[in-house]
This record gives sequence, structure tokens and C-alpha cells, in this order.
Amino acid sequence: MLTRDTVMPLSNDFIAPPDQAAADIRAELSAGLLQQNAQTSPKYLYDALGSKLFEAICELPEYYPTRTEAAIFDVHLSDMARSVGRGSTLIDLGAGNCAKAARLFPALRPAQYVAIDISADFLRNAVEQLRQRFPQVAMMELGLDFSTTLELPERVRREQRLFFYPGSSIGNFTPVQALEFLRRVRGECQVHGQTDGGLLIGVDLVKDKQILDAAYDDALGVTASFNLNLLLHLNRVLGADFIVRDWQHCSFFDAEHSRIEMHLRARHALTVTWPDGERRFAQGESIHTENSYKYTQQGFLGLLAKAGFGNPHVWTDPDNWFMVCHAHAGSEQ
Ligand code: AVJ
Repeated sequence: MLTRDTVMPLSNDFIAPPDQAAADIRAELSAGLLQQNAQTSPKYLYDALGSKLFEAICELPEYYPTRTEAAIFDVHLSDMARSVGRGSTLIDLGAGNCAKAARLFPALRPAQYVAIDISADFLRNAVEQLRQRFPQVAMMELGLDFSTTLELPERVRREQRLFFYPGSSIGNFTPVQALEFLRRVRGECQVHGQTDGGLLIGVDLVKDKQILDAAYDDALGVTASFNLNLLLHLNRVLGADFIVRDWQHCSFFDAEHSRIEMHLRARHALTVTWPDGERRFAQGESIHTENSYKYTQQGFLGLLAKAGFGNPHVWTDPDNWFMVCHAHAGSEQ
């Protein structure tokens, strides 16, 4: 049995002692809930059930991003492969079930595949199955919160790194954070003092408010369940006493900030408690659980250029609802 004094074997993936990580998570959640405008990071939406509910969201008629992006990849994959080239080190940011990356393999023929996700357990199975289908591709999985650190182990090849960031997850960052993140990604594309490789990214575009609102408040209530499930996750990791029925899903497009805001709204005045804190919520007061920024094509290309990426290629769907972009880390290519 493991005790506090047990010496844990060091592995290359070793990041922090598990006890410390759990304490940090509780401190971060507690601080967010105690802010005047209570908030939590969207990463806490993805516990085991949350990840499954998100997969269900992707199947909803109202949630157009997943299928629109998939159609763009279907139509333009060989063109994308020409832009990217073969033999890259494919680094999948937020790999999940690895399905999106797997569909690129036959065209891109990566030399190495690195699947990164905050939940390594979810990854292990998916990567294991991919190994059987593509035995010629070296693969590894990394449990890493890449929103805070992008330091990759030595075993990740430095040559021709292609960071793959589909699904418009970049929308969870504010534009300022997104720029910072893109600069960091570009910084990880250095080899022998040169900049090599690039980024293949999916970005959701600004469109009619009704379409955006429906995509984040579907008729079946799956997005509501996905949002409310955060409370069950908080009860588990923080030891809080949230009652799910006391809360209501609320999301809307805010054109001024060009973002979807997702909230959990208290149905009546209530108090939530956890081991080192408590918070009173008035009726209608909310916890801000996610932002999902929407870009114009020009706006996002401007961000890429500012981050130092060059020679972008853009592919969109016929309605211009979503874009996939490949940009080079070296701006002269
Ligand atoms: C995974 C961040 C891209 O913003 O569309 C879907 C998450 N939240 N429905 C998005 C989400 C509510 C999704 N991302």
C-alpha cells in the first residue's frame, strides 16, 4: 500500500507529487468561487462524465462546430497535407479520444504522434488502439495541463513539430491569453537554433446570434447537463455540497466581447460550503463556468501573425462558419 512516505519511482512523465496537485486544485477552485463574480476554469467541466457529455454535445444538431470542422478536413485533407508535408512530429493538444488526429494519419504520415490531454486515463485506451492501426508511427501519451505548461519531455522529437489544436478550443482563452499561448507554441518549434514546423488549428467564426445561442443551449439539454455536471465534480474534488437542482444552465453570445458565456445560475438564495470556505449566492447570482470566443478570419490571422507565425493557409466551409488554418512557425517559409 502507498503511504505518504513511500518513495515514488521517477518517470519521465513525473510532474508533481499527487498530494500537492490536489491541494493546488482545491486552492484554485476555492479562490474562484470566492471572487465577487464567482468563476471556475472550463477545464473542470471534463471529469469522466463531463468528457462523455462533451462527446454527446458534438453529436447534437445545434452544435455545428464538430461536424463543420470534420467536413472541412474531409474536403481539404490532401490540400492540407501538401501544406504541412510528411514526417512531422504530430502533437495533439487536447487529444481526447484521438479520433480527429487519427483521420489525418493516412494523409500526413507523421513520424511521431504525441497525444496530450489533461486526463491521461482517457488517453491511454485511445492511443493503445491507434498503435494497433498504425504500427509504423511512434506514439506516446502525456497527461499534461498544456494551458499552463507546454514543456515537453526529451522523447518528443524536435524536428518538424506540428501542433494540432482542433475543435476551436483556443476559444476558451481570452484573445490576450490566446496570443500568449500561440507564442509559447511557436517557442516549442525551435530545432538547432532554427524555427521549424507549425500549427494546424480549428477556429470557430462569428455568425448570427441565434445560431450561436442554440449551439450552447440545445433542446435536449445536453449542454445544460454538461455545465451542471461541473457541480458534481466540485463536490468530489473540493468536498463541496452543491445541490444540482438548485442551479440552472445559462449561456448566451455576448457580441461586445465576441464570446459565448456559460454560467450556472442559482435558482434561489443559497449557501455552498466546503472544507475551508463557504459562499452565499443570491437568487440569480451565477458562477461563470466558460467563455468560448468567436473570431473573424481576419482577426484570427492577425493574432497568428502577431505570435510570429507566417504563410497561413485557410480552409473554410461554404457558410464560413468555421475555419481550419495551417501556419508556419518560421515566418519566412
Ligand atoms: C471544447 C471549448 C471548443 O467552446 O464550443 C461546448 C466547449 N462548451 N459546449 C466550445 C463547449 C459548451 C467547446 N470547446
